[in-house]
Amino acid sequence: MRIPFNRAGLTGNEFRYIFQALEIGHISGDGRFTTKCHELLEKELGVAKVLLTTSCTHALEMAALLLDIQAGDEVIVPSFTFVSTVNAFVLRGARPVFCDIRRDTLNLDESRLEHLITPQTKAILPVHYAGVGCEMESILAIAHRRGVAVVEDNAHGLFGKYKGKHLGTFGCLATQSFHETKNVTCGEGGALLINDANYIERAEVIREKGTNRNRFFRGQVDKYTWVDVGSSYLPSDVLAAFLFAQLENRAEIQDKRQQIWKRYEGQLGGWAKRNGVQLPFVPEDCEQSWHMFYLLAPSLAARQALIAHLKARDILSVFHYLPLHLSDMGRRWGGKEGDCPVTECVSDRVIRLPFYNELSEDDQARVVAAVLDFST
Ligand SMILES: Cc1ncc(COP(=O)(O)O)c(C=O)c1O
Repeated sequence: MRIPFNRAGLTGNEFRYIFQALEIGHISGDGRFTTKCHELLEKELGVAKVLLTTSCTHALEMAALLLDIQAGDEVIVPSFTFVSTVNAFVLRGARPVFCDIRRDTLNLDESRLEHLITPQTKAILPVHYAGVGCEMESILAIAHRRGVAVVEDNAHGLFGKYKGKHLGTFGCLATQSFHETKNVTCGEGGALLINDANYIERAEVIREKGTNRNRFFRGQVDKYTWVDVGSSYLPSDVLAAFLFAQLENRAEIQDKRQQIWKRYEGQLGGWAKRNGVQLPFVPEDCEQSWHMFYLLAPSLAARQALIAHLKARDILSVFHYLPLHLSDMGRRWGGKEGDCPVTECVSDRVIRLPFYNELSEDDQARVVAAVLDFST
């Protein structure tokens, strides 16, 4: 039996809530279940306002619109991230400035920020890789000193914490993903977290095609009209119903994932040492979100051999994040070999093991046995 890399799981109430949404008859955006998701996340995370979106990519696009990103503005992003972190800003005309990552957490290297900031810099985009917090204290201090906005791409990090505070609550804005590969999912989905309340009203407009429809529904205006730029960033309430079932069961999901993560760490530690493989590092002041378990092989050849070794045993593992500065788009902005040496090296060596809520102990034992049977 094949062990996939990822498989979306159900927590129990998904179909019941979808059925309820259908019975209520409001299945477009901002129905009862969307409100329930907003309230749950606002309360749990301590965020001024949460708005569900159709993806994390779209939440990032909303952030770029809210910050009024214009042609010629610069945004600083780690080269080791998913394209959407930067594409959302490039779409508005921004120039991406690629920052290298730290060797330990694979997060944006805050020590490089000062000399990447120019008078054109409008935003820094820390990505909490694998749901382990970036060095937010230093990043925020530099950003405040230089008058630059911070938008956290927290696609991996829902419910993770840095210094006791939830990831996604540090920047003026932050984004979440509920894509199928994430801990909590509705297939495709996301959220914009708004920490600076000054952005709330405009965010509601941008998300509703540039109209003040939300104010109309609240009885604050007697008709709604076109007031700003915008698009359609709100998901159907059917998806929100699915998501709410998952969010309600967040403790169970996180607990299952923690157990899977700890088993990998406990059972692969000795093998990793003997084979020059690096396991994920979580600083003491970070509580991770148990999003993924990755290995850093000693070389590209070793990584490829391990992926093939697992595949031959019907186990799917994946690698990800080709350095953005060396992508076709990155090169158009001047990216070249050697710009981000840690990213270039890590991206050749990273491998992600099967990790999903319903990964059984037996299947995980098969993955572990297959890894232990490999030497670099
Ligand atoms: C760091 C990061 N940001 C953004 C995204 C995009 O998320 P979505 O698929 O919800 O648009 C991903 C996707 O996995 C990601 O890994």
